[in-house]
Amino acid sequence: MKILITGGAGFLGQCLAHALQENELKQIVTELVLADIAPLRDATLLADARVRSVTGDLQRLLADGVINGVDGVFHLAAAVSGECEADLDVGLHANLDSTRALLDACRTLKQPPRVVFSSSLAVYGGDMPEVIADNTLPMPQNSYGTQKFVCEQLIADYTRRGHLDGRSVRLPTVTVRPGKPNKAASGFMSGIIREPLAGVDAICPVDPQTGVWITSPRFAVAGLIAAFETPLQQWGGRTALNLPGLSVRIADMLAALERRAGARVAARVRVEQDETISRIVGGWPWRFDTARARVLGLSGPASIDDLVAEYIADYPNAVIHAA
Ligand SMILES: NC(=O)c1ccc[n+]([C@@H]2O[C@H](COP(=O)([O-])OP(=O)(O)OC[C@H]3O[C@@H](n4cnc5c(N)ncnc54)[C@H](O)[C@@H]3O)[C@@H](O)[C@H]2O)c1
Repeated sequence: MKILITGGAGFLGQCLAHALQENELKQIVTELVLADIAPLRDATLLADARVRSVTGDLQRLLADGVINGVDGVFHLAAAVSGECEADLDVGLHANLDSTRALLDACRTLKQPPRVVFSSSLAVYGGDMPEVIADNTLPMPQNSYGTQKFVCEQLIADYTRRGHLDGRSVRLPTVTVRPGKPNKAASGFMSGIIREPLAGVDAICPVDPQTGVWITSPRFAVAGLIAAFETPLQQWGGRTALNLPGLSVRIADMLAALERRAGARVAARVRVEQDETISRIVGGWPWRFDTARARVLGLSGPASIDDLVAEYIADYPNAVIHAA
């Protein structure tokens, strides 16, 4: 089976590629194509004979035939929320136009491919019920969320028409993300854990009482793989699936950091509210009913302490302060 991961040099794209190397799919994946506008630098992935890295804008790569012979796609390429809010055209190009091009490329294949799309909790906003279910009507309040919701609908329609077998998964904010901060409005949720553990100060740009919906990289990737592997009759319809996560306040995350690394490390986080980030993140829901995902056997981290422990276990070289 030939699998294409768009956004394959990104954070989750690389985590997913590693998981596919290790999980049961490794028996059936014969070729893994990682397509990204940024070059792939991961030595382990590059050393795998089954992995092929292609670099360029997705629309150009599609025009060059990157879809040829593909059986399954994980569509992760995207511009993140902060970029999309700062520049409408960036988001429309990376998120909407690229997705449409991908879906149309899928139409050219003899066999409709399975397509897993990484949507986001950012499809929600505005006047929402206390608890969000899969069938709660999204009313996105920012451009990124709007683009994700439009793509979910396109994928559902191309699926209905038989061009592909599409499954959209709405990810909670995935934290703790390694490396440098990115332009996602949610990026600080990783920064307030990652930077102090590395001995670096961090800014929390929202009120610490803000509630958020989060999961860890391992659980996010497990959700994407399950979306790919679940038989169609069990998937439960064309509506996007909300992945399980943790409903926490930012203050709870800071408390977990202090429990793990001590008060001196936690004191590296300074609250300096940013109006735009507070508006975007504060407008997202943070309580979800994920019954459908749980029926499929999906779960999220048991606690924030587990989430911090996962980061320390997976990125030990990035941590200098952990009791
Ligand atoms: N990480 C999270 O918290 C989170 C939460 C909800 C949804 N998601 C979604 O999951 C997916 C992966 O997220 P991530 O955290 O790995 O993001 P990321 O920014 O690390 O990865 C996205 C990748 O897409 C690539 N890309 C962007 N535009 C492209 C284009 N036109 N052509 C080719 N490649 C392009 C980028 O270079 C980047 O490597 C995204 O679709 C994101 O919207 C992520």
